[in-house]
Amino acid sequence: MERATTSGHLPVLYREVLDGLAVRAAGRYLDGTFGRGGHARGVLEQLGPDGRLLVMDKDPEAIEVARRDFGGDPRVSIFHGSFAQMGQWDAAAGGLDGVLLDLGVSSPQLDEAGRGFSFGKDGPLDMRMDPTSGESAAEWLARAGEQEIADVLWTLGEERHSRRIARAIVERRAATPLTGTAQLAELIASVVPRGKPGSDRGRINPATRSFQAIRIHINRELDDLHAGLEAALQCLKPGGRLAVISFHSLEDRIAKQFINRHAKAPPANRRMPVEPDFVPVLRAIGGATRAGDEETASNPRARSAVLRVAEKLPAGGAA
Ligand SMILES: C[S@@+](CC[C@H](N)C(=O)[O-])C[C@H]1O[C@@H](n2cnc3c(N)ncnc32)[C@H](O)[C@@H]1O
Repeated sequence: MERATTSGHLPVLYREVLDGLAVRAAGRYLDGTFGRGGHARGVLEQLGPDGRLLVMDKDPEAIEVARRDFGGDPRVSIFHGSFAQMGQWDAAAGGLDGVLLDLGVSSPQLDEAGRGFSFGKDGPLDMRMDPTSGESAAEWLARAGEQEIADVLWTLGEERHSRRIARAIVERRAATPLTGTAQLAELIASVVPRGKPGSDRGRINPATRSFQAIRIHINRELDDLHAGLEAALQCLKPGGRLAVISFHSLEDRIAKQFINRHAKAPPANRRMPVEPDFVPVLRAIGGATRAGDEETASNPRARSAVLRVAEKLPAGGAA
């Protein structure tokens, strides 16, 4: 049963994550995506006085909540930054018994119009998880070339009208800067043909895919995921667990391929014989875990969530 955090974010696959991490009372765990601390709180409850919980988030508001709610607990350390940097944090580089990456955005980020993540709420077109650094969505849309915008919408949003939307953005910005979420959502709706009633296209807002693609691009989410998985593998101790929750097929593919690449020898083919020296460094714990009906009924965000868990093997690869 998942539990709501004080700010209304329901941690997805709560029980499955805690089971997957197999928390030990004296272990050292890192939650790379603190959010509002739903999963972190569950880990902390299972830790004894010698256990440690390290939390990270790119979002300064999430870090503020971590400091407020957990800052007084001597077992907790807090770091503002991307989980891609976990190897540069001494507390993590010393060895971890578990790493959790619960990817994407939190409900408070989506709900607050001022963050600019939501096409349903008018706000500044920002979309940065860390508004203190990097380029906002408005800044990127003001300078990117038409082809670059179309490529992002296509590759990160699978938006089949990517070229038409990119052209409309470039034409519109020549007359008026695009600075608001509602302005962009309306522009997209004006150029995307309506889906047939009852079809997926008919059901979802025409701006959904483009907003998702721009957000993933602005926050370099896939690059961070690649780097974060590598860093987690380095930081985990033998027997340590990695748990990744994805909300998007591109993320899940990265997590799945990462685990497979480190768990199984690549299949032989005519050009590439089986790597003779392949030594597995991970063991997959189960396959893809999805939320059950009860959870998806109470938390629609859980519908697209996929959890994958792996265990780091001792040097030499033996389980
Ligand atoms: C789905 S929420 C996590 C929710 C959290 N598990 C909970 O129960 O409250 C995702 C969080 O991860 C953060 N985030 C996303 N990518 C990140 C990254 N590369 N490094 C650090 N934090 C990241 C977001 O800012 C957001 O707060």
